[in-house]
Amino acid sequence: MHDYQAILNIIEKELKNFESEGKVPDYIPELKNVSPDKFGMNIHGISGKHFSIGDSHEPFSIQSISKVFTLAMATIYGKKVWERVDVEPSGSPFNSLMQLDAEDGIPRNPFINAGALVVADILITHLRNPKKELLEFVRRITNDNRIDFDENVLESEKNHGYRNAALVNYMKSLGNINNSVEEILDFYFYQCSIRMSCEQLSRAFIIFANQGQIIETGEQILERINVKRINAIMQTCGFYDEAGEFSFRVGLPGKSGVGGGIVAVHPKEYAVAVWSPLLNANGNSAKGMRALEELTTFTGLSIF
Ligand code: DON
Repeated sequence: MHDYQAILNIIEKELKNFESEGKVPDYIPELKNVSPDKFGMNIHGISGKHFSIGDSHEPFSIQSISKVFTLAMATIYGKKVWERVDVEPSGSPFNSLMQLDAEDGIPRNPFINAGALVVADILITHLRNPKKELLEFVRRITNDNRIDFDENVLESEKNHGYRNAALVNYMKSLGNINNSVEEILDFYFYQCSIRMSCEQLSRAFIIFANQGQIIETGEQILERINVKRINAIMQTCGFYDEAGEFSFRVGLPGKSGVGGGIVAVHPKEYAVAVWSPLLNANGNSAKGMRALEELTTFTGLSIF
């Protein structure tokens, strides 16, 4: 086994002076209150060992990383998920409206906003109390009851979520939304406002490295076939119009969020989470991508 702690220490040192040209997103005002210098990284191996550097225990807004959790839940509790959302890379920005009209309101994949909003609709239909059950699911796979959402981020996005409102309305007009627009936006902004640290995120994502099993309890929470599918979608669609670049540089399935977090998975080896708030033009953490690139380069281990 690699000495992951030594590798993380090298990454921390090498990237100390990393100059990011990125920006914190301004369309969710509350996210501007985070210090741009934050940097943390954590690896959880499927052996149960874990390794950390920097601000890896500080919770931050997971934003779009939550789309992986809701998709996982939809494969457990939902019905006909794949009839309502496709599995193709979009090649467009995460909040784009462009493809929906030509494609009958079927989003390209569950990780662009349109797709995640359809997944939210599916969960609202099938769960009695979707917000509570989502939080319980995330706490259960992480084995940590401290995980919670951030009221300020939720309100901030609610007050500025014009594009997401447009997306749900548009899809409703095309027949791919069953519940009320308000209910879907409320659930979606809630999921995006969940706060987790790198340490918690990499622990949660172990289920995708460990064929659907929670390590601590041995519980098979996801079917293997769905783990395969979700990892495949992370590989091809986890970074929107930068999915190719992430595959090329890092070579792992992963998912980013505009809170500056990225989670990546090496099946049967480890899950890794990194956090640095400055985003590149595609909405992905610039330093986070670089750190993951160094990780797979130093270890010589990627899925390719
Ligand atoms: O809906 C939004 O725009 C945000 N709550 C989440 C977007 C996001 O994280 C995209 N990720 N890179």
